[in-house]
Amino acid sequence: MRLVLIGGPANPALAEGVGRALGMRLADCEVGHFPDGEIHVEVRETVRDADVYLLQPTAPPIETHLLQLLLLADASRRTGTARVTAVIPYFGYARQDRHASEREAVGARVVADMLPTAGIERGVAVDLHTTALEGAFGVPLEHLTATPVLAEALRPPYRERGVVLAPDAGAAKLAERWARVLNVPVAVVHKTRVGGEAVRTQGLAGDVRGRKPLIVDDMISTGGTLAGAITAALEAGAVPDVVVAVSHGLFVGPAAERLEGLPITQLMVTDTVAGTAPHGVAVEVVSVAPLLAHAISRLHDGRSLSDLILHA
Ligand code: R5P
Repeated sequence: MRLVLIGGPANPALAEGVGRALGMRLADCEVGHFPDGEIHVEVRETVRDADVYLLQPTAPPIETHLLQLLLLADASRRTGTARVTAVIPYFGYARQDRHASEREAVGARVVADMLPTAGIERGVAVDLHTTALEGAFGVPLEHLTATPVLAEALRPPYRERGVVLAPDAGAAKLAERWARVLNVPVAVVHKTRVGGEAVRTQGLAGDVRGRKPLIVDDMISTGGTLAGAITAALEAGAVPDVVVAVSHGLFVGPAAERLEGLPITQLMVTDTVAGTAPHGVAVEVVSVAPLLAHAISRLHDGRSLSDLILHA
């Protein structure tokens, strides 16, 4: 069965990188709009009987990128592919994984349910907001982690008197994984979200006094969580020399101004989301292209992904 890689428009550089790592070109396809604004897609070469991998993070503008993904999947399967796998390095709506208050939609479930409707038979994602989200997918999901890729980019030596800091309870498991690898203690910030852009922090659990924090999280969106975590750490006596390792850098809204001036010595994100460096903030972007290429190649050959996937 022939392997075909299609790169949607949400992150062409990452798709090219995956293609290079696999030693193959991207399939020819066109994504545009009709005059009334409807999205139009066309796969311009035969993908009949092929094992198709469709790479498209559903990053902002989320609805556009999601619909492009679904239409590309539909266009592929209608030409008789053997299988369509959606590689969604960043999965939008992941934070809407439960009712935070009454009468809210569980958006993550709604979006996950759309995938099989468009003919997607399997998904590949990187560092979803929670591992529990895996259960929302009605198709088999390979949940990869970028932690080893980010850990490798950590500037040595890490570190005398370090502490891994989870900026909220949701990141505690991730922080524990990092701490095991680095052999340093863990601390967890007590955070409450009070709005889409605003969070409140009330101290932290663990000892950060005299230690250099390494803050780990699944994403930076508006930067509120990160800024709050740094403030909480400094108030608790941490050294103002902070390293940040985050899988998805969205940097929306007030992110740039919130991060400017914070005592961050290294800020790393991966390239799951395109164009992630906000003006005035030094961001190191680490590529997940080799990770995705390994996953695709092994899925195509029916080999194990055990060392690439997230074990909770
Ligand atoms: C929340 O639970 C997530 O893991 C992130 O910490 C959060 O979504 C980041 O958002 P922001 O940067 O807007 O605070």
